[in-house]
This record gives sequence, C-alpha cells and structure tokens, in this order.
Amino acid sequence: MGHHPVEDSNRSNNRSFEEIINARLSRRKLLTGTASAATVGVLGSLALTGCGGSSSSDTRTTASNTVTMNPERLGFEAVPGAIEDRVILPQGYKADVLYAKGDPLFSGLPQFKNDGTDVDYDSRSGDEHDGMHFFGMNSSGQYDPQASNRGILVLNHENLEDNTLHETPTAKADALAENNITDLKKFVDREMNGHGVSCVEIQKENGKWSVVLDSPYNRRVTIFTEMEMRGPVAGEDFVKTKLTPTGTRRFGTMNNCAHGYTPWGTYLAAEENWYAYFNVGTVDALSEKHQGWLARYGIQGAGWNYRKWDEVPGDQYARFGITTDGAVATEDFRHEANLHGYVTEVDPFRPTQKPRVRTGFGRFSHEGAWVAPTKEGSPVVIYSGDDSRREYMYKFVSKAAWSEADRNGGLAAGDTYLDEGTLYVAVFNDDGTGEWKALSKSNAELDGTHTYNDDGTTYQYDFASDAEILASARLAADVVGATPMDRPEWAMVHPTNGDVYLTLTNGNSSNRPSKDLDAANPRAINSNGHIIRWRENEGNHAATTFEWDIFLFGSSAGATSDYNVSGLTAENEFSSPDGLFIDPRGVMWIQTDDGSSGIRSKTNNQMLMAIPGEVGDGESVSVTTSDNTGQESINTFVGGNAEAVQLKRFLVGPNGCEITGIIMTADARSMFVNVQHPGEGGSAETFNRNVSTWPATSGDATAFGEAGNRPRSATIVIYREDGGEIAI
Ligand code: FEO
Ligand code: CA
Ligand code: CA
Ligand code: CA
Repeated sequence: MGHHPVEDSNRSNNRSFEEIINARLSRRKLLTGTASAATVGVLGSLALTGCGGSSSSDTRTTASNTVTMNPERLGFEAVPGAIEDRVILPQGYKADVLYAKGDPLFSGLPQFKNDGTDVDYDSRSGDEHDGMHFFGMNSSGQYDPQASNRGILVLNHENLEDNTLHETPTAKADALAENNITDLKKFVDREMNGHGVSCVEIQKENGKWSVVLDSPYNRRVTIFTEMEMRGPVAGEDFVKTKLTPTGTRRFGTMNNCAHGYTPWGTYLAAEENWYAYFNVGTVDALSEKHQGWLARYGIQGAGWNYRKWDEVPGDQYARFGITTDGAVATEDFRHEANLHGYVTEVDPFRPTQKPRVRTGFGRFSHEGAWVAPTKEGSPVVIYSGDDSRREYMYKFVSKAAWSEADRNGGLAAGDTYLDEGTLYVAVFNDDGTGEWKALSKSNAELDGTHTYNDDGTTYQYDFASDAEILASARLAADVVGATPMDRPEWAMVHPTNGDVYLTLTNGNSSNRPSKDLDAANPRAINSNGHIIRWRENEGNHAATTFEWDIFLFGSSAGATSDYNVSGLTAENEFSSPDGLFIDPRGVMWIQTDDGSSGIRSKTNNQMLMAIPGEVGDGESVSVTTSDNTGQESINTFVGGNAEAVQLKRFLVGPNGCEITGIIMTADARSMFVNVQHPGEGGSAETFNRNVSTWPATSGDATAFGEAGNRPRSATIVIYREDGGEIAI
C-alpha cells in the first residue's frame, strides 16, 4: 500500500462531522478491512469533538492592531535553503539582534568584550539561548498577554560553547593541570553562571525593540540560585543532602532546554540533559533501588557534560560528584541527582521570590512543559516530553480546578495547581487510538517489585510512595507499557481546535531498529524525525483516551515517496523538528535542530510555517524504511501533505546554529526567535570563527559578522518592514 495523495486540500478547519467521520472510517477500513465495534466507539467520541473546529478566517483586535484569525493563506514567498553565515528572511522582512550572549542587564557593567575575559554572567545574558516566552506587561506592571509594546522576555540558556567562553581554548585545562584553584574557580563560576534563565524587560519604541537596562525585572537565574523544592518529592529522605538537609531547597537549574508559561503569569524552565553534569564515584551505600534510579537515568561514571566543577573546593561545587563517602546522606552528595530533572517555576513579575521546583510533573529529561488552554472549573493540564532516545510522553493533570480569579496569581497560584495532581504517560496504539496511564499509587499495575535490566546488570525496585513514582517516573512508565518515542521535543496545543502537536526529532539505529517499529514511530533509524498529534477524548485535556495521527514526516525532497511521505519539496524539506509554536492565529512554526542529515549540506537550520489541519483529516499510509537488519513497512496514519498544509520555509539561520525558541506578540507584529550556538563544529583554535562570526556588531541579524567576532547565541526580533502582521 503506497502513499495516496490527499484529495481534500481544504485546511480551513471547517469540515463537517460527517466528513471527519468518513475520513476516519475510510482509513480504518484501509487498515483493518472492516469497521469494528471498537472503531464505532472511537467515531462516537470524534463526533462529539467535531464541534471544537473553528470557522474560516476572521479578525481579532488587540489594543493597537487588528489580527487575522485562522488565515487560509501564508503571505510570503518561501526562502530557498542556504548555507550563509547570517539570518535569511523572506522579502519584506527584517530582524534585529535584541539580546546576545554576554549582553549586560545593568548599566554599571562593562560592555561585553567577547574575547573570553568577560565575567559577571550572573548579570549578563548566558550562553545558548533556547526556550523563551514574552510576558506582555501593562502600564500598571501586571502581566497582560495582549500587551505588545512592553514586557518581560524570559529565556533559557541551555548549555555552553566551550570553544568561545574562556580566554583561550586550553585555559581551563591548564588551570586543572596546574591545580590553580583561583583560576579554576573563575572558569567554573563563569560556566555555572552561563547556564540558567534570563528575565529581561524589553520595550518597543519608534517601531524598534530594545532591552531596558536596570529594570527591576532584570535578573539571572543560574546554577547557584536558591530555589524551593515543592510538591510530593520535597522533604523526602532521598533528596536530603549536605546542602539541603531538609530536602526542601535546591541550588540552581541547568540544561534548561524548552519551557512553558502559565495563565497565572509565570515561566516554566525544564531541565533536559541535567543527568550529564555529574560524576558518579563510589556509591556502595546506596540501596539497590537507588542504584537502579542512577542507572535508569544514565547517571553512571562521568557524564558527557561533566565539567569537573567538583574540583573547586566548597559544597556548591562538590555536589557534582556523587558519592556515599559521608556517614549519612546529609554528609555527602549521594542524593544530589535526585534533586534535578524537574520543571522549575519562575515568576518574572515578582523578582524577589525564589523559583519553585515543581516535582509533581515527574523527573526525566523534560524538554519543556506546555500548559493547555485553561477552562473555568476544569483541571490545569501540562504536556511534557522526555527527550532521550526511546523515552516517553507525559502529561500532568492538576487536582485543583482552574479559577479565573488566579489569572495573575504568580507562584501562589502555582502552589494551587502544580503541587497536587496526577502524572500520566502515553500509550500510542497501532490503530490510531491512545491511552494515558496514571503514574500513582492508585494504579495497581505499579504494585509489587519490578526489575530493570541495564546491559546485563539487574536492579530490583518498587514504589513506596507517589513521591518515589515521580522521582523515578521512567521506571514507573516502563511498568505500565508506555510507548517509547523517537525523542519527544516541543509540544503545542492548537489554540482553537485543541489538537496537541509533538515534535519527534529523530531516532538512530539503536533506539529504532527495523524490528522494533510501531505505528506512532514507524521508521527505522528515522534520521529526519516526524511530528505527531492527537485529540483528547471529547476535546477534554484531562481525558485518559485520545486519537492520534502523524502530521508531517521530515525528509529530504529527493527521497522515495514511501519515505518522503509528506511530499516535501526543495522549498520545505526539513529534518529533526524541535521547536514548535502555533501562534494565536492558528499558524504553525517549526524550528529545526538538524545535526548531520543530508539536508544540512543544502541548508543551515531553519524555521518553516504551515497551516495545520486537524487530527483525522488524512488517511492510512504505509511507510517503508530499512536498516542493516532488514526492511520494514509499517501502516500508520498521516495528515495532509506538505502542499495541503502550505509548508514553507520562512527563515534560515547562520552557519553551525540551531534555531530554537519562538514567541510572538499578541498583535502579531513582532516575533522573537533564538539562534543557538552559531559556529558549532568550528575549531577551538579559531574560537569557532572558521564556521561563523555571526552576529554583526551593527545588530542587523541579516548581515554577515566581522572577521574577528567570536560567534554568539542571540535572541533576534523579526518585523515586517512595513510594520504589518507577520507572515499573512
Ligand atoms: Fe535541548 Fe531536546 O533539545
Ligand atoms: Ca530542543
Ligand atoms: Ca534538539
Ligand atoms: Ca540545543
């Protein structure tokens, strides 16, 4: 069964119930030959959700401007793929560099020299900009999502570019070799302060955005920042350490990849590759269960991002070396890793309040944490994927029902909605249905003793409490049969029809061999990734069942049609989808983090746009891939092809970068995007300048940088030259 082009290219979200049911029925028939009783049940739920679809284009008015809702066309010419060391945009668009690595938050600081001598990263922009939100602010200093000319930009600094951070490529290694603790501490402090989160007030004057230096809202959250542990894990014995003997506080957050934001005006910073910063020494005194936790989270020996911070004297540094060398847990750092892997809530509007670590969402490599649109009287629902190979998709459902009275409630509202609730993990069935399995003591599947096998070493474990289930969520998800995915990255709920989209960035031969495919992850190796989506039963985000299909498959344009399933062409071929945003108008933006696929020889990382349809608007297809063990064809469900969803390339980034982080103002006139690690892959001797010297000192993001620049991650702001609505 090959891929049949979708006849229905109407993407306006206004199909009748009957059409949706017929489409769903026909693809079930293609797959199974008959509509089973179970299928009829599925159709019943779809009919109920059909009313969630919106009508065709209309407009909405913000404080200052009119915005097109549910547009049917994208109003720009796609940009060609390119390998150029600058940002490339469609005709009629421009972009400024707004906030680059090292930019000061306060006027008392020296300008960034960018020669590796800069210090004070706790008062400057950190490195490797990633997830980001714009919190509009009204004239009384309150969160106002409609405010489009002033606000607080909050963004993550995921990681460091070692080749550009210090004075010379060998400076830190030399200090280590010479045991020069003074120098080493300087380098380590720079590295720990280069991570975390930035909160920075920005304003638009005369059509141009700039940073408001010395704003009371400007601050950095770093790996030193004190935070409160909250939710079920706080205070448990397994999070007590020498620095937090009560298990109720933690220092810092690290490897903050993507993010989320709440309707009560706060920011959610997710920790992704936190596990890689530790070095595990002798941990003989840990129980088998807790040694199993270390193994299941990949915390063994020196992690790939271990930076020898624990070679600096003092507990703030020693905590990155995990050992049981104390007499009891509060005399060492055997439990330090149990304090990480959660989502942290930051209130940009109350800068003196300590961030709160929300353990109720579970512990894993959180890519981000995306809050579904809230409804008075219904629980708050948060989607969060675990971005590691063969890991799972989760959601948190609050115990408390949402009340509009909490809309600007800050961290106190967070206490209400985020500290009590239920964590679920997704099972994607091959028939296009899915189920959310509860990870709590209420689920009898988790009773008793279980075994985790790590390359021949086995660990017995049980779950003594909900706190243990959350802190070892991966092990609980294993037990209930969650579906291993091809690396869940960003999730996004469609603002009008409620469909949930999730980028699955890619797989490799070990996590997705041809003998281990399923309909939701149907490709062996899957170097180009795909985007899956689902609709919760009756459109209720707290539901425990859903319907799914695959929105788009990444591919090079030249691949055969049973691999290039979505029919990508030169103007929209892409690989490794990561950042994802559906703006308030219903327009989708897809950002790529493509390392080495064939597409990288044709274009730098990029951002594309589409007008998505809805779950169930496509059909059944067969996808064929192979690896060195054989070739497999898997039946799955795919939405409209690239032409039907008007997939078009909007932006190409500078050399060596990843494009990640995206948010638009409510008036759709300004869009903020992050360019992460331009110059990656360059040589240490040239400080990566052999690959990139972006950005230019002029601040024009579309200009080439000067020859002497060390490349810098940066937030850019994109405008239409005539001041109009972006992309329409
Ligand atoms: Fe930091 Fe999953 O990307
Ligand atoms: Ca990412
Ligand atoms: Ca990624
Ligand atoms: Ca990255």
